[in-house]
Amino acid sequence: MTGAPPDTLPTPLSLPLPYPVYCGADVRQSIGEIARLVAPSHRVAVISDTAVAPLYAKSIAAQFPTESTHLFTIPPGEHEKTRARWAELTDALLEWGAGRDTTVIAVGGGVIGDLAGFVASTYMRGLPVIQVPTTLLAMVDASVGGKTAVDTPFGKNLVGAFHNPSAVVIDPDVLVTLPDNVLRSGLAEMIKHGVIADAPYFDAVLSFADAIREHGGGAPDFVAAITMLITGSVRIKADVVAEDTREGGLRQILNFGHTIAHAVERVLNFELLHGDAVAMGMVAEARIAESIGLARAGLAVGIADAVVRAGLPARMPAGLNLDEVIAATHGDKKARGGAARFSLPRAIGEMESAEGTWAVAVPDDLVRAALMEK
Ligand SMILES: NC(=O)c1ccc[n+]([C@@H]2O[C@H](COP(=O)([O-])OP(=O)(O)OC[C@H]3O[C@@H](n4cnc5c(N)ncnc54)[C@H](O)[C@@H]3O)[C@@H](O)[C@H]2O)c1
Ligand SMILES: [Zn+2]
Repeated sequence: MTGAPPDTLPTPLSLPLPYPVYCGADVRQSIGEIARLVAPSHRVAVISDTAVAPLYAKSIAAQFPTESTHLFTIPPGEHEKTRARWAELTDALLEWGAGRDTTVIAVGGGVIGDLAGFVASTYMRGLPVIQVPTTLLAMVDASVGGKTAVDTPFGKNLVGAFHNPSAVVIDPDVLVTLPDNVLRSGLAEMIKHGVIADAPYFDAVLSFADAIREHGGGAPDFVAAITMLITGSVRIKADVVAEDTREGGLRQILNFGHTIAHAVERVLNFELLHGDAVAMGMVAEARIAESIGLARAGLAVGIADAVVRAGLPARMPAGLNLDEVIAATHGDKKARGGAARFSLPRAIGEMESAEGTWAVAVPDDLVRAALMEK
């Protein structure tokens, strides 16, 4: 046990979502009570990875009765987000005797959130899941929105389901054990949130970027500052997904930086951190927005400055094969007239609506020019 639970339940953030999001230092000590409130059940299946389990998942499992609680773990890493691990976890739940009266608690980064969320979405046609994200990226991005998935040899996230959590519990205290490069990777999505929706939020992230670059989780007042920024990011993401729950339109603005990022990740065999790919993708896509006359000159330089101050890369890796990147921007579908689609900003805090599609077709030669710029 991790000590007595607090007397009162924490207050969830006020968000336009059908489930509560709790965010605050030490809120993980209240997961037992939160679960009893939002998803009361006979059994509790905590799912984590072997790196996060001893740090956090074990003590979270200890908030529930031993005889009806089990901690299931898999090894850490993106390459574990597979159908094989989905089947293994599902079989382990069956063997343990989990019925429909079971709540899943996902404790980990985006890999665990996506995988455990997918297990929960399919097990006996759906179990409630509580998302407890432990990386910055999972806190500000993966845990909110209800998307779950596993990867396949054909690409990432190709098999999955929309399955809203019963609650999201974000405890920024756990970020202090995160490696600095993984922490910074989450900052890229926060910069993105500022660009797509909120200029003052962009400035707030920027004002903390230097401290994180230099000191990581050891920055002065880290937990207080990051809690405020996480709350801002979650609010931006929640506003977008509330308006477009199943990705028909507005949700596409969350893809800013990601057409290039996904293409580069693919060409480099996913050996780059996602946030690093998003950082360079945002800079290149802002250049594209300038070159087609959508954004005023200076936007890309402003975003590059934020990215560099956060300790993230603004430039494409040396030796990257641009032909392969451009081919990959067309995704699995064949090139439609040599023009991939991009969600592009007009300015910090303002995205181009492109008549409600939120994605603009850009000819390959302009994409190439943006990628080549130094
Ligand atoms: N569902 C969505 O909407 C959505 C959105 C964005 C990303 N994702 C998915 O998220 C995944 C990436 O997630 P990620 O960046 O969190 O990576 P991750 O889950 O692989 O975690 C990164 C590493 O950090 C370790 N770790 C996690 N929390 C820790 C902590 N507090 N202290 C120490 N170590 C810790 C993990 O063991 C792992 O080794 C991708 O699979 C991506 O597709 C999903
Ligand atoms: Zn992303």
